Amino acid sequence: MEKYIINGGKPIGGEVLIGGAKNAVLGLIPAAILAKGVVTIDNVPNISDVEVLADIIRAIGGKVDYNCDGKITIDSTNINGNTVSEEFAKALRASYYFLGVFLASSGEGIVAMPGGCDFGVRPINEHIKGFEALGAVVDIKDSLIAVKAENLTGSYIKFDTVSVGATINVILAAVKAKGLTVLDNVAKEPHIVDVCNFLNLMGADIKGAGTDTIKINGVSELKPANYSVIPDQIEAGSYMALAGLASADITIKNVIPKHLEAITAKLLEAGSDVIEGDDWVRVIGKRPINPIKITTAPHPGFPTDMQPQMATFLCLSESTSIVSEGVWDNRLRYTNELKKMGANIEVDGTIAVIHGVEKLHGAEVKATDLRGGMAVIMAGIVAEGVTTVTNIEYVERGYENILTKLGNLGADIKKV
Ligand code: EPU
Repeated sequence: MEKYIINGGKPIGGEVLIGGAKNAVLGLIPAAILAKGVVTIDNVPNISDVEVLADIIRAIGGKVDYNCDGKITIDSTNINGNTVSEEFAKALRASYYFLGVFLASSGEGIVAMPGGCDFGVRPINEHIKGFEALGAVVDIKDSLIAVKAENLTGSYIKFDTVSVGATINVILAAVKAKGLTVLDNVAKEPHIVDVCNFLNLMGADIKGAGTDTIKINGVSELKPANYSVIPDQIEAGSYMALAGLASADITIKNVIPKHLEAITAKLLEAGSDVIEGDDWVRVIGKRPINPIKITTAPHPGFPTDMQPQMATFLCLSESTSIVSEGVWDNRLRYTNELKKMGANIEVDGTIAVIHGVEKLHGAEVKATDLRGGMAVIMAGIVAEGVTTVTNIEYVERGYENILTKLGNLGADIKKV
């Protein structure tokens, strides 16, 4: 079993270069096979989720050239399959984007139940509602989701819950549907806009991405295009939170500062300095860390995917902070790991009450999920003594070259 060993307390600072956005590329790669031919995507993060998507496309007959070097080339010319097996589907959440893609490309497909981090129940009712409104029949049996449509026809769909996954999946299904599809109460995250920009570049007609309502005029065909993924808002935010936690001066490069506004606002409120450039932010962590309140919400609210990292930052604050998780039912499991390191956190349902402590100490902890894993790594970096982090495969699903990046910032972290 691989694990990270962190020798805490080393001075942190310097520069870090942010990779492409995980949650964008996970939509872009399935979207690429909607066009017959060769698509190249740049600024692809070097994370294991990308490798799984590449394997899924190979398994259905596509050709994928990907060497973990920031570029993926996908040739969909000979794709002849429309199933995603359990082995692949359960490796990540985004495997379910193939449902939308199969509906749009061949009118039917089967994808096993998707995996992903465990935050309690992760329903897909909004995806199904969207597919059905477009004319598809959805059948779930023995952990397999089967979708089928004779003809997909544009429709009006108002989502009851704001969902990143359902928004992307129904867009993918609707791009080639006959007529106009209007999606209301959609997610507005930067990765939604990125997926729509890519689809439009391939010839789709999508308007309104980034607002509450998206309108899609179905087109008969998409053509291959080359694209570059937006920078990862959450990877950037994680290094911003690390600067605050470690009282470090870190310049985070290749970012879109606008995407980081909610995170910047909370760091400023807690007393850190944040300086913004065109495509960089510099965070200078300061003591004392002021106690603050954070409530996560869909974009442009505070991102749930930054909740564990900011909670870790607040572990060293002056007094009591409140972190409310507003998206997921069960995204505070990592707090039990932080408590092993001396954090003083009380959890009540989806609320964490964090009483600041003077310091954290090393311990044997596990990554409960991707961002919970980053939380304990950050804690280990500032803790006194040695921290061992297990279950690191969660972390490597979403943080590219994490050892090199943290090592360059001065952290003493190694994988054994
Ligand atoms: N929901 C429903 N019905 C649905 C779909 C979602 O009720 O059909 C609910 C969920 O239970 C949740 C809320 O809606 O309470 C939001 O879920 P959403 O569908 O937006 O989440 P997701 O698409 O499954 C993506 C990211 C997550 C991120 C969430 C929220 C990907 C691959 N994953 O998940 O990212 O937390 O959006 O922003 O894009 C991460 O990167 O660490 C991560 C978990």
